[in-house]
Amino acid sequence: MPLKNYPFEIRDVESDTAHLLMKYFTGELTGFVRVGPKGYFLPNKFKQEAHNIYNLEIRPSDVFVASYPRSGTTWTQELVWMVANDLDYATSNAIPLTERYPFLEFSMCVHPVLKQRFIEENSFNMRNLKMLEWVTQPGTEQIAAAKSPRFVKTHLPLSLLPPTLLDGKVVYVARDPRDVCVSFYHLNKSMRTQGYTGDFKTYWEFFINDLHHWTPYFEHLKEAWEKRHHPNLLFLFYEDMSKDLPATVRRVMEFFGKKFSDDQLNRLIDHLSIESFKSNPSVNYDVMKELGIMVGAKEFIRKGKAGGWRDYFDEEMTLQAEKWMADNLRDTDLRFPHLQ
Ligand code: A3P
Repeated sequence: MPLKNYPFEIRDVESDTAHLLMKYFTGELTGFVRVGPKGYFLPNKFKQEAHNIYNLEIRPSDVFVASYPRSGTTWTQELVWMVANDLDYATSNAIPLTERYPFLEFSMCVHPVLKQRFIEENSFNMRNLKMLEWVTQPGTEQIAAAKSPRFVKTHLPLSLLPPTLLDGKVVYVARDPRDVCVSFYHLNKSMRTQGYTGDFKTYWEFFINDLHHWTPYFEHLKEAWEKRHHPNLLFLFYEDMSKDLPATVRRVMEFFGKKFSDDQLNRLIDHLSIESFKSNPSVNYDVMKELGIMVGAKEFIRKGKAGGWRDYFDEEMTLQAEKWMADNLRDTDLRFPHLQ
């Protein structure tokens, strides 16, 4: 049934495919949906959030950091927050990024059965229960209760966000899909909300066949790329940040109309380095481990390099990736810089 005030059709992913996928992604227990003409693939619970997300009231002071997962979102979030908040290290260190930036649609990833399990496992720890309540609360509720300026993290493509989104500011970050896929594979194995059980090659097949959360990948990027000249949207690449972080920081400063001295800039660059990030509990998502949502030896902040995909792709996959990227880039002038 179509939702009121929601322009897109939400279709259930056909039962055989959904059951196959749920064997590989054990965190999802109901199924998946495809949304709108581009068929964005999302967990079933998106149905409950779609309308509230689309109809969220945007304020001119809102700042969204948007991306396909594992594209450098966390890195961009901290950079944007620091610049927009005049390098307020005290607050950045005191308040975790998860609280400074509600994750708009994360609650759709937490199946009710899994949520109950997390609550039972944390029942002895009031602090954890409170944090669990926060990270699993719909982002729209958190945002509605937040004071301006509001900072929001989302992996949704622009078309599924409010049509007035660009009344506020959006910083979008993109990354070579091969590195994205390797990075997301590791995260999917350690996040129980995803619970991926297969190998990398199978994961890659799901990813390029649009059978994975927030795909189709290239449609996601292209929607933002088309808006890159809009004065309220800044389009960044992970590879640019990796190669020349100061240049990206300057672009973000300009976007927010900020000026900092060289010393201030150097301190920020240091704060944003992968080494600082790994040991900074405010940004490293250790909270997910504390709550038992993330398990195993893997870290949310992992290698932080461009080009690591080469260790995971055999020759067949390398050629397949080249073709897939070329096919999808044919009708656009979007190009990944500094490809490795
Ligand atoms: P890898 O898994 O390839 O290391 P997201 O925040 O969108 O989930 O992206 C996560 C990716 O960004 C991970 O990539 C992570 O290591 C990398 N990353 C996070 N912080 C970084 C930093 N300060 N410098 C470089 N890369 C960083």
